[in-house]
Amino acid sequence: MNNVYIFDHPLIKHKISLLRDKNTGMKEFRELIEEITVIMTYESMKDVELVPVEVETPLEKTVQYRVPEESVAIVPILRAGLGMVNGVHKVFPTARVGHIGMYRDETTLEPKEYYCKLPEGIENKTVFLVDPMLATGGSACDALAALKKRGCKKIKFMAIIAAPVGLEAVAKAHPDVPVYISTLDRCLNENGYILPGLGDAGDRLFGTK
Ligand code: PRP
Ligand code: URA
Repeated sequence: MNNVYIFDHPLIKHKISLLRDKNTGMKEFRELIEEITVIMTYESMKDVELVPVEVETPLEKTVQYRVPEESVAIVPILRAGLGMVNGVHKVFPTARVGHIGMYRDETTLEPKEYYCKLPEGIENKTVFLVDPMLATGGSACDALAALKKRGCKKIKFMAIIAAPVGLEAVAKAHPDVPVYISTLDRCLNENGYILPGLGDAGDRLFGTK
């Protein structure tokens, strides 16, 4: 599959082992999601465009390179994607945030869009679409289509854990979108949960179960 990047970093492996553990509580779970997202954001921005700026050090003037202000936007897929926003903000503090609300119908597993609010000018930014879980791929495929419909041209999709079927679905429906994941799990169970996975990311982030 073109455009799919799986991070094989020992620190990510370490943090994912903690994330999966059912005894990891809400606070630590939230912190781990954020920490993993920071590492993923650095890794996925190796192709970021820089602009030259003149900087004066205490000794002389020099030309250096910076990421243009406001060139990045973050769009979490609600709810669980919210857990990744702070991680991207650690790297791009001025990034504006849009929101796409999706939930999976529990019997059909079909995604339903219930909310979409994006920052003005998003079509000219690099957009990070974020969601910790990529299961059937339905939510990610629909969210990517929603962003494209609203004019977004440069999108990166970041998920922490993916199932093979979901990864294939996104790569097939959106071959132009680079997909960054931290780990590729085995399969889905009969309820559409990723195995071995980590359970329901939204519930574990927000303590709803
Ligand atoms: C989870 C997850 C993804 C989606 C992945 O959200 O955060 O958005 O499922 O599944 P898919 O790849 O099969 O579409 P969920 O629908 O449980 O909503 P929530 O974040 O509000 O809990
Ligand atoms: N959504 C989750 O939160 N977990 C899964 O394993 C699949 C979808």
